[in-house]
Amino acid sequence: MPHQENPFVFGEIVDDVNFVNRVDERNRLVRDLADGQKVFLLSPRRFGKSSLVAVALLQLKKRHIRTVSLTVSSYAGYAQFLEKFAEKALRAAGPWGRVKDWVTRFGRQVKPDLNFNLATGEISVSLSKGAGFDPTPIAPEVFALPGELTRNGGFRMAICLDEFQQISQFNSGSVENAIRNQVQEQRGVGYVFAGSQPSLMEEMLSVRRPFHKAGPQMFLDKIPADDWKEFITRQFRRRGRTLDEKGMETLLSTADLIPYDVQRVAHELWDYAELKDKRQLGAADVSAVTDALVTGQSTYYELLWEQVSARQRATLQALATRGPSEIYSQAVREEFRLGPASTVQKALQALDSRDVLDRYKGSYFFLDPLLPWWIRRRAA
Ligand SMILES: Nc1ncnc2c1ncn2[C@@H]1O[C@H](COP(=O)(O)OP(=O)(O)OP(=O)(O)O)[C@@H](O)[C@H]1O
Ligand SMILES: [Mg+2]
Repeated sequence: MPHQENPFVFGEIVDDVNFVNRVDERNRLVRDLADGQKVFLLSPRRFGKSSLVAVALLQLKKRHIRTVSLTVSSYAGYAQFLEKFAEKALRAAGPWGRVKDWVTRFGRQVKPDLNFNLATGEISVSLSKGAGFDPTPIAPEVFALPGELTRNGGFRMAICLDEFQQISQFNSGSVENAIRNQVQEQRGVGYVFAGSQPSLMEEMLSVRRPFHKAGPQMFLDKIPADDWKEFITRQFRRRGRTLDEKGMETLLSTADLIPYDVQRVAHELWDYAELKDKRQLGAADVSAVTDALVTGQSTYYELLWEQVSARQRATLQALATRGPSEIYSQAVREEFRLGPASTVQKALQALDSRDVLDRYKGSYFFLDPLLPWWIRRRAA
């Protein structure tokens, strides 16, 4: 058989054709952004926020809405974030001829700290370069920019600020205030603030914080098993291969239905089947592939294991073996020598803040679903 590219992608934003389900979420996000709403999109890591936003923005672009996307965590500091924010907003507002005047005005307002490089019509914004430079005073002007551009340009905009929970690292409270104050004035600009640490995001949305009740919240769920089954079956079938029922169940439960990990395990299974030219795949094949993946990660897992306390290790073992529902029960606490329930709770919280665990629908789960596999294998 001629080579066929592996259709399962992970760690990248998935494109339109390989995008599984999320029909309702996508429609809602598109509608809200087109309406100029300020949407907060929350989920644990790797559930598919960035991918969802990407397809939504693409759809909006087709409707001639100008789109801008920034990942807050990519920037080294507040000044650089503001520069990129201004730059991308201006670029999206092009063509150059039309926005020139407002750009010039914007330049006048925040002077003398702003320069434009207009050589090729390519816009580059540079705020003052001094290391001690504090951009706080000009931040409101920068965040006002999309409003100005849409009002004067006769178009709408949709802006995504991804990894938004990182924003507080820039300048504690004042950056949240600056953004909130400006965006609430911008009727023609939809915003989606996407955040991967639900606990941090929820804190940000709590009473007495600037973003309290600033807009609708969307909690992104896992993608239902049936959609994955259909997608995975279809991909393997195109290659003349089948994955039996038991194998599919094993794959989905190993990955804990976390989109990233479903794709990761399916990706490995695809390569494995190619290598062995195996037409019929089952649970044993999925296990073999998982085992190889876990082995590949073991250096990292060992390191992690060394870094956590003895109590936390015992808690991880209990969670990996017994699951989250019984973790506080007396039987489990005795079996794994976990101590009192309050100690278990403390350990779980510590593991949550280390990003080993997170919470979904009230229960703790492993952010990396292969880690419990490694823990069980190790203790066996
Ligand atoms: N709708 C989808 N269809 C198919 N695969 C998906 C979908 N959503 C997410 N994935 C898979 O999950 C991976 C992670 O998705 P994405 O980066 O969008 O998640 P995220 O929530 O933004 O993660 P992070 O919090 O780490 O930024 C993707 O690379 C892809 O493999
Ligand atoms: Mg993301």
